[in-house]
Amino acid sequence: MKNLVNRIRLILAAAAAGIAARFRRADHRDRTDRPGAAEFDEELARLTGELAHEIRNPLSTIKVNLKLAQEALDDVDLAEPQRVSWDQCRRNLSSASRKIGVIQKEADRLEQILDGFLGYVRRPDLQFATMDVNELVSDMIDFYSPQAYSYSLTVRHSFAKEPLICRIDPGALKQVLLNLFINAQQAMNKEGELMIRTGRRAGRAVIQVNDTGRGIPPERVPTIFRPYCSSRSGGTGLGLATAKKIVEAHEGTITVHSELGKGTSLTIELPLASTDSEVDARR
Ligand SMILES: Nc1ncnc2c1ncn2[C@@H]1O[C@H](COP(=O)(O)OP(=O)(O)O)[C@@H](O)[C@H]1O
Ligand SMILES: [Mg+2]
Repeated sequence: MKNLVNRIRLILAAAAAGIAARFRRADHRDRTDRPGAAEFDEELARLTGELAHEIRNPLSTIKVNLKLAQEALDDVDLAEPQRVSWDQCRRNLSSASRKIGVIQKEADRLEQILDGFLGYVRRPDLQFATMDVNELVSDMIDFYSPQAYSYSLTVRHSFAKEPLICRIDPGALKQVLLNLFINAQQAMNKEGELMIRTGRRAGRAVIQVNDTGRGIPPERVPTIFRPYCSSRSGGTGLGLATAKKIVEAHEGTITVHSELGKGTSLTIELPLASTDSEVDARR
């Protein structure tokens, strides 16, 4: 029990440290009169408000269950075995154990919320390598396909014939692609189709992830890259916000096109490495 409480304390301390680090960066930017500092502050206030809101539910569940577990255990006074029957003891112990199980689950959820938050607020520490985007996308499709088949989804792909050489952080971009695949999967029923295309356009590599899912209502489209905007119960709403941040750290763009009831298409564009984009410009 003590370990659990310490773990929760650590989680909350780390969240506070993340927010403080972001505030320090905000401070520094303000001193340099960065344009848009006011919007940045507003965004920060919104983010911390959302984080507090996300944390509140698991935290109150933890508090209630800690109290109930404590009461169940207090009833089992081993110094006075005649006061409660062994049957009652067993029931109380198993009830306390169930409560601890709930606490454990909620502590895991807190950790998840914190990981998502830090993943979003931290400046991505990218390790760039020059590589073919086709290869990276192909690896990711191989990695994800077994999961797609288990949901009865069809995965198709069509790759650019020539290599798409870019300076990228493969780990970070794989995380982005996986997020897009999982979002698509969550928007589709069985028999849905995930189509992944790569190509080149105006000196940029293009990766397109299309699904035949439920689509996004037009009024929600402008919000989907904002942190904590989720339409799924249990969703963090940080997947696309983090994806956008990673893509922009590559000087790329990510855009969405969606038709309600028909499907959604997310397009990532990344600058081709210079020699490759020169070749492209000469075409
Ligand atoms: N392929 C998609 N089809 C339909 N809606 C989508 C798709 N991708 C994202 N969305 C919408 O954008 C929201 C934000 O996505 P995301 O940032 O990954 O957060 P989360 O998946 O935790 O909800 C989702 O809740 C969903 O409403
Ligand atoms: Mg998601």
